Amino acid sequence: MRIGILGGTGPAGRALAARLAAVGFEVVVGSRSKYRAMEIVDTLLGHWPEHQLTIGAAENSGAADSDIVVIATPWDGATQTAASVEDKLRGKVVVSMANALTRLGKEFQPLVPPRGSVAASVQAAVPQCMVAAALHHVPARELGDLSHPIESDVLICSDHPSAIQVTSDIVDKIPNMRPLNAGELAMATPIESFTAVLMQLNTHYKTRVALKFTGIRDAEAARTTQAPGAVRRDAHPPSRDGVDPPTDSSSTSEHPA
Ligand SMILES: NC(=O)c1ccc[n+]([C@@H]2O[C@H](COP(=O)([O-])OP(=O)(O)OC[C@H]3O[C@@H](n4cnc5c(N)ncnc54)[C@H](OP(=O)(O)O)[C@@H]3O)[C@@H](O)[C@H]2O)c1
Repeated sequence: MRIGILGGTGPAGRALAARLAAVGFEVVVGSRSKYRAMEIVDTLLGHWPEHQLTIGAAENSGAADSDIVVIATPWDGATQTAASVEDKLRGKVVVSMANALTRLGKEFQPLVPPRGSVAASVQAAVPQCMVAAALHHVPARELGDLSHPIESDVLICSDHPSAIQVTSDIVDKIPNMRPLNAGELAMATPIESFTAVLMQLNTHYKTRVALKFTGIRDAEAARTTQAPGAVRRDAHPPSRDGVDPPTDSSSTSEHPA
């Protein structure tokens, strides 16, 4: 499975690229400039030669040709970036990890984008893709440090059960990361804004925190990240024929640097 990362040249995108490639995914780092993407890819490959990472470089439109597409731009560029490759996103799972935050003095404050979250804005801009909001709380430095495992729960929400499943299956391939089904895409509003709290903790405690929830058994977490009727957890791209129906809330059961 090939995973393309739009805005993949930043700390978050390049860290995710390295980590996903380290667990066997083919990754394409996207950028507004193919040369910037090539520089980042050269840096990653040079930094982790022992991992034999499969990472390519492309403009964002080339990265959007991938099976699964991650949006790792700043919040105010996410919707426009997604819309610019709309034709390539149709029927695909699109993972939005962008957080709308601003800094006021020493405080991080959440911003409320149109439709309540970056992820919902992206879904509205490209209605024929299946947006999953995820990975908002994973600190980039730890994510990109392949010499250490990264321990974190990853909250995932979407209006499309198969998007939750596909995203969960990808996260589940990363040792010590646990995907959790957080419900419908409306949950992206508190999930994205909660990142401001984590940033505040990082500032107060001079660290980089990650999330771990108690009280959810791993088996139950695994069960609730599967789309209804799913029998296996292998990640696979969704059908491109169309978008699956909205999640039935009764059946549904993620900057840190
Ligand atoms: N840093 C973290 O620890 C972390 C963790 C979880 C989630 N996040 C979220 O992930 C996203 C990326 O974080 P980051 O720290 O990597 O951000 P970043 O460095 O500010 O931006 C990432 C990349 O996006 C592209 N970009 C910048 N402005 C853009 C615009 N207006 N339109 C389109 N593309 C633009 C740039 O790539 P090109 O110039 O090469 O196109 C840049 O390298 C953010 O939304 C952040 O909230 C970050």
